[in-house]
Amino acid sequence: MSKIIIALIVACAMSSGVALAAGGKTKPVEHYHWSFSGINGKYDKEALQRGFQVYREVCAACHSIDFIAFRHLGDKGGPFYLEECPEGAPDTLNCSNPNDNPLVKALAAEYEVEDGPDDSGDMFMRTGLPSDTIPGPYANEQQAAAANGGAIPPDLSLITKARKYGPDYLHSLLKGYTDPPETVELDPGTYYNPYYKGDMATLLKPVYVDDEGKPLEGVDVPYGGVLKMKAPLVDGIVDYIDDSVPETVEQYSKDVTTFLTWTAEPKMEARKTMGKISLLYLLIMAVIVYLSYKQIWSRIDH
Ligand code: HEC
Repeated sequence: MSKIIIALIVACAMSSGVALAAGGKTKPVEHYHWSFSGINGKYDKEALQRGFQVYREVCAACHSIDFIAFRHLGDKGGPFYLEECPEGAPDTLNCSNPNDNPLVKALAAEYEVEDGPDDSGDMFMRTGLPSDTIPGPYANEQQAAAANGGAIPPDLSLITKARKYGPDYLHSLLKGYTDPPETVELDPGTYYNPYYKGDMATLLKPVYVDDEGKPLEGVDVPYGGVLKMKAPLVDGIVDYIDDSVPETVEQYSKDVTTFLTWTAEPKMEARKTMGKISLLYLLIMAVIVYLSYKQIWSRIDH
């Protein structure tokens, strides 16, 4: 038994050693205060709407969000949730139901989605409906890779769950692009980001490495890595309806991060409310149990 445990420990130590050797260091992510963090955290609805706009006008050119249907955008806690119908809407509508929500319906109708097969077995295009998932930019992975220098842009629905410190990482990454350090030489079509995983030691210019390709003494290996996505956000690239909101990389990145945190956990607010109710329930139970304990043992000497 103990041999197995030792073998396991050795195996873990070795594999983590290999993992460390294969990658360089990345810059520690910056931590931000988000409206959705903490036990009382909530998504800022306007930030969600702006974030969806940034996703749609910028990121959607390359990234899908396959887990999100139009109707999800009108769910409670979502960017386009309506408690009541706007004035003038027919009485028969219940706009808190996303399938009746006029904003969701209008949005879905702006898209063309593939449906079928029809009676003759052919696929056809039709106008989007609230129940459709939001269509992605590419028909398949090969097309995605061909359009992006061989790299496949990952689906973004769950990206903030798939990375450590998800929202902080995403925000750091999006606004973290800088010129590559002097000591390295990048391949064309690749872009430097200090927060991205990678190993910059392999990209050091020949004058900074020895015969075996190892960095010379005193040469600092820069943080981060290179990726095939160039900085997607630049100041002014998205025109916000609300003029009081800055049109800066910082703001776009914050908004799209809020939106992509919501896509990864649309039911977060319900979960937190449930958590608070459970805590309250446990507290009340604890008081009842304590009082009954007092009552039951009161007649017995101890
Ligand atoms: C022109 C195409 C393009 C656009 C526009 C684009 N991306 Fe990307 N993105 C890519 C590609 C390609 C990759 C994969 C990079 C690689 O593997 O080298 C990627 C990777 C990513 C990753 C993964 C990083 C990681 O840790 O693995 C995230 C997150 C991301 N993009 C977010 C966004 C967001 C948010 C936007 C919109 C603000 C956006 N992207 C816009 C092409 C794009």
